[in-house]
Amino acid sequence: MTQAMKKTQQAYDSATIRADFPSLSRDVNGQKVVFLDTAASALKPSSVTQAMSDMMAGEYANIHRGLYQFSASATAKFEAARGKVATFINAPHENSVIFTRNATESINLVAQSWGRANLIAGDVVLITAMEHHANIVPWHMVCEQTGARLEVVAINDDGSLNTDDFNAKIKNPDVKMLAFSAMSNALGTVNPVADMVAQARASGVVTLVDACQAVIHGVVDVQAWECDFMVFSGHKLYGPSGIGVLYGRENLLNAMPPYQGGGDMIDVVSFETGITYKNAPSRFEAGTPAIVEAVGLGAAIDYLTAIGMDAIAAHEADLYAYLCDEFAKLDGVRLIGRAQNRASVLSFVMDGIHPQDIGVLLDKQGVAVRVGHHCAMPVMERMGIDGTVRASIGLYNTRDDVDAFIAALKKVQKFF
Ligand code: ALA
Repeated sequence: MTQAMKKTQQAYDSATIRADFPSLSRDVNGQKVVFLDTAASALKPSSVTQAMSDMMAGEYANIHRGLYQFSASATAKFEAARGKVATFINAPHENSVIFTRNATESINLVAQSWGRANLIAGDVVLITAMEHHANIVPWHMVCEQTGARLEVVAINDDGSLNTDDFNAKIKNPDVKMLAFSAMSNALGTVNPVADMVAQARASGVVTLVDACQAVIHGVVDVQAWECDFMVFSGHKLYGPSGIGVLYGRENLLNAMPPYQGGGDMIDVVSFETGITYKNAPSRFEAGTPAIVEAVGLGAAIDYLTAIGMDAIAAHEADLYAYLCDEFAKLDGVRLIGRAQNRASVLSFVMDGIHPQDIGVLLDKQGVAVRVGHHCAMPVMERMGIDGTVRASIGLYNTRDDVDAFIAALKKVQKFF
């Protein structure tokens, strides 16, 4: 148990939490690291790396296949991780939780499995103009395969969703799927998920929520959202890469054809009588899965649960307000995501300085941010820019990080 886990239910203690993340004590270019790129991938607490290393060094074996002790133990740990995910997102049953490689694979799974079985020429897949490429390209591909059409809900100049456009487009009877992000990775915009899903459900539209960013900043409750599908990646949630989650309503999942075929997902394979498949989750988990990574994700969820997602959300909201206030004092900068309802992501450009140059000069000062289009080229197109500098905060960031970031930005401005 890490220091922060021992502090369950106590006041948010950044120093204790930071001590759980060994990466934060490293120097970058001779400077103390200021990590502001959690939106891309989070640093890992020791409890996650320890759980993974214990698993590999201990009773490691393939799961669901062996009768011997090691296999039974590994299976129990893998399935316990599924249970932790189910509880974390308030899924009604753990059979609704499919382990994938990442959120991108989860969306591809739905697009190819549900999409190819349910979409026909003339149908519409509705997305928004603030989506990550992972929630655009899989739908584009299945539209090409089925003759369905991709339609896009516009965004406003401040990066918020254009609700008039949404309200009009969701009523089109051709819309069969609404796929949208709960929170934009490029702008920080937080969408009204439950309202959007309710409107879709009223029109009989199936919904998929990309919760990659939302899940790391607060409580995600799929039953409150009432969505049909929800996806996220383990690596942004302080867990390892190589593991992602697809939540789906059990009746929808069991009516969908498998996405990939192989071992562990079949009922019977016979050249005489044919092939039949298991129900979810096995139906969608062909082959040996990411066993150790699932256990790592489970450990990350234990870590977050011990601190409390509400406590994390409150800490980050306070820190984000401070970041925005300090940033607003700078001259020669332009905030790109300015939606009223946004969180944890500060996306901006600076007069006369290319984001790439800003990124390099910040790195020289130990500050890690992401620059570029953030895998959301349509957002940049809409805003009339090539890219932004994006600072994103996680549970370990502090006001000291913000102060160091603002000071580093001032030095960049002086340099030019
Ligand atoms: N989707 C990740 C990001 O926003 C990689 O940076």
